[in-house]
Amino acid sequence: MQDNLGIQTIDLIWQAGHIIRQYTGANKDIRHKSERDLVTAADLAVEQFLVEHLSALYPEYTLVAEESAVISNNAIPQRALYIDPIDGTTNFAHDFPFVAISVGAYRDGKGEWGIVYNPYSDELYSASSGEGAFLNGNHISVSNTDKLSNSLIGTGFPYDVIRSQRRQQVLSTMDAVMQQTRGIRRCGSAALDLCYVARGVFEGFYEWGLKPWDIAAGAIIVQEAGGSVSDMFYHAHNLYTDGILASNGILHQDLISLMQE
Ligand code: IPD
Ligand code: CA
Ligand code: CA
Repeated sequence: MQDNLGIQTIDLIWQAGHIIRQYTGANKDIRHKSERDLVTAADLAVEQFLVEHLSALYPEYTLVAEESAVISNNAIPQRALYIDPIDGTTNFAHDFPFVAISVGAYRDGKGEWGIVYNPYSDELYSASSGEGAFLNGNHISVSNTDKLSNSLIGTGFPYDVIRSQRRQQVLSTMDAVMQQTRGIRRCGSAALDLCYVARGVFEGFYEWGLKPWDIAAGAIIVQEAGGSVSDMFYHAHNLYTDGILASNGILHQDLISLMQE
């Protein structure tokens, strides 16, 4: 993040967090994008606010924002800002306060900077390439746990999991992870789950079917906190591949093995 823009960007994200909080207790106008995938008035209001202001601040970037995005693996923008106005919309709809705004900047497929902000807990995670990762300005790093049996692992389920062919894979991987680790958590915001790896709360996080805006910022934050990010087979991380595994690095290979069970 360029320094002169950094403060302005963070300020915009704080303002967007204020918009989310204003909808608490108000009519959220919950609609269905599919059977389980929701969108609310707040998702749309926050997205509109961020797109308007970020496009002015970063005119050379293509904005890829969840509620208005048309994405194609064949036309990946050279410079892009990936925006999730509310990561954790189901949580938001139910007033479960694990919700985040997520913005990640990429250039030629490489992460430049990322910000993830939970407006309920007022936790702002940030990272810029080569400069480390921070929570409310304080340095964070991944855990140094080296045994799966001492690890806590986050995961999530794609909205279509019940009806998709992947259901069996999700269930059997969960069974394997449950048997080998201290426990699994499904908190409902992939962006924050990744930040929980970055700050050493989780030793790992995995999920299939996520979109670039779910993981763009969190992946940079994990890497800058000293962790590893890959697909489920230890191939290099790419926002457009199916499946992400993030870890403290030490347990990455062990977790990759569990993903194959
Ligand atoms: C969702 C959250 C959730 C994950 C879903 C995502 P949304 O994003 O990150 O944790 O399990 O796969 O789609 O829809 O709340 O922005
Ligand atoms: Ca999301
Ligand atoms: Ca969202």
